Amino acid sequence: MVSPSTLFAPAAPEFIAQHLQHPSPEQIELRDGLMDHPAHVDPKFLYDALGSALFTAITQLPEYYPTRCEAEIFQRHGGDIARHIGPVQSMIDLGAGDCVKAERLFPSLRPRHYVPIDISADYLQSAVRRLRLSYPGLRITALGQDFSHALALPASIPAEQRLFFYPGSSIGNLSPEDAHAMLQRIRGQCEGGGLLVGVDRVKPRQVLEPAYDDALHLTAAFNLNLLRHVNSVLDADFHVDDWRHVALFNSTRSRIEMHLEALRAVRVAWPGGQREFSAGERIHTENSYKFTPQSFAGLLASAGYRDVAHWSDSRGWFSIFSARA
Ligand code: AVI
Repeated sequence: MVSPSTLFAPAAPEFIAQHLQHPSPEQIELRDGLMDHPAHVDPKFLYDALGSALFTAITQLPEYYPTRCEAEIFQRHGGDIARHIGPVQSMIDLGAGDCVKAERLFPSLRPRHYVPIDISADYLQSAVRRLRLSYPGLRITALGQDFSHALALPASIPAEQRLFFYPGSSIGNLSPEDAHAMLQRIRGQCEGGGLLVGVDRVKPRQVLEPAYDDALHLTAAFNLNLLRHVNSVLDADFHVDDWRHVALFNSTRSRIEMHLEALRAVRVAWPGGQREFSAGERIHTENSYKFTPQSFAGLLASAGYRDVAHWSDSRGWFSIFSARA
């Protein structure tokens, strides 16, 4: 039996030696992608601290319409959207970042419990500190989690009337198979509740391509910065000025593709490996799928959602979908 004194004695600091896996799963993933033909790197490597700051700047560019279109929809149709959703106990914000998009909906959705989830726990912490001061009555449970492969919610979040919020057309950065799996995973966590998701729409190439290849070259910097991130994770020796940013709309697959193209023959090395790229050879870094209202409604239906409604901005460039799980 444990004596009370043992229970209340100050615990000795515990030191757990974790044997860091070497190479790490991230290093293995990078090496495998770089050795593939064509080479590819997962878009999550776009988001180190500088990449996240560059993405925030991109959302303010005149060419990058999604953020403004989405805000317009919530401003014009917020009341109808809230009525379609009904009462919300917990609002679970996927990829919450600075939590500002969800915060704008608090007055109409009136959640009792806000659950922001983001892979960047540091960023989330400072956002949550700010929210606690502004909304003292709101229960907040922040989760630093990569929800791209698994979604684990603590038991303290009531199972009833959950609303998953997945704005910004981030679902478009997943392959159709992964988007379907993600939608199913979400539905499994909110039966009787719902999903509110932002989706970018198919539109002319003349609008789409400049949004991903802007005149200030911020998107080019965002894409090229991935090489610096890869250098730091893999200890590789990419030189940013050997590469150029390429963004094009692949109409057959209904997606913007971002690539990095070698400007000359390049050899890139990392501990235990290397790859030679010829001039013009590309590394595929991101897809951003574009949907029609019908194609996205079909995806929701195939993932088991019902009572699907959607709203668009005045130009019909972006949609918000609300669906019951
Ligand atoms: C985060 N995601 C929805 C952005 C998009 O539009 O696909 C990422 C981005 N890539 C280049 N510009 C913005």
